[in-house]
Amino acid sequence: MKKILKIISSVKGAESKSTQLADAVIEKLIAQYPGSTVKVKDLLKQPYEHFHEGHLKVYRGMGDVAPEIAAGVEKISEEAINELMSADIIVIGVPVYNFHIPSTLKGWLDHVMRAGKTFSYASGQKEALVNDKKVYLAVASGGVYSEGPMQAYNFVVPYLEASLGFIGMTDISTFWAEGCDMPGYKETAL
Ligand SMILES: Cc1cc2nc3c(=O)[nH]c(=O)nc-3n(C[C@H](O)[C@H](O)[C@H](O)COP(=O)(O)O)c2cc1C
Repeated sequence: MKKILKIISSVKGAESKSTQLADAVIEKLIAQYPGSTVKVKDLLKQPYEHFHEGHLKVYRGMGDVAPEIAAGVEKISEEAINELMSADIIVIGVPVYNFHIPSTLKGWLDHVMRAGKTFSYASGQKEALVNDKKVYLAVASGGVYSEGPMQAYNFVVPYLEASLGFIGMTDISTFWAEGCDMPGYKETAL
């Protein structure tokens, strides 16, 4: 029995290929671990603020900020981090938008990748603090990146492996529905 955190970052609702792919992964996980729970985090419905000066001051201790603002910022970040920490498996639906991850997903990362919370340099060396997680990336793209001329434009998976890995989530498996908008591919992409 596992605690699964499903993160949605598509804007397409039920039509989303990345969400459908994430659901297919979760279906298999539930078959493998009967009784597992799934917490759904839809970043379209619950977007995180773009990183701003107030976050910098609170997260990095770089300047004074009014206590009530600091408390609000801290609460949102703590909740996101606690949600991540309490999951065993994280399944992230990732549409490719303009060669990168959706800004909502980057927004979430900006609030969970925090010194002293999810990584630390306290010992003089970088220590990752989000350990023992399994991550599945369910990627959907209009184009094809596994072969052909667009191969060099695959920034999404290396970026997520680097950023999630930085805070300790190194056990990452990727499923990728590619060519979702290309005739000849889209019919069987999923
Ligand atoms: C704003 C926008 C930008 C996109 N940029 C890219 C891109 O850079 N590369 C690509 O292969 N597909 C791109 N696409 C196509 C999507 O990746 C494709 O439709 C995919 O199915 C999106 O995932 P979703 O169905 O989960 O939303 C873009 C789509 C949108 C709406």
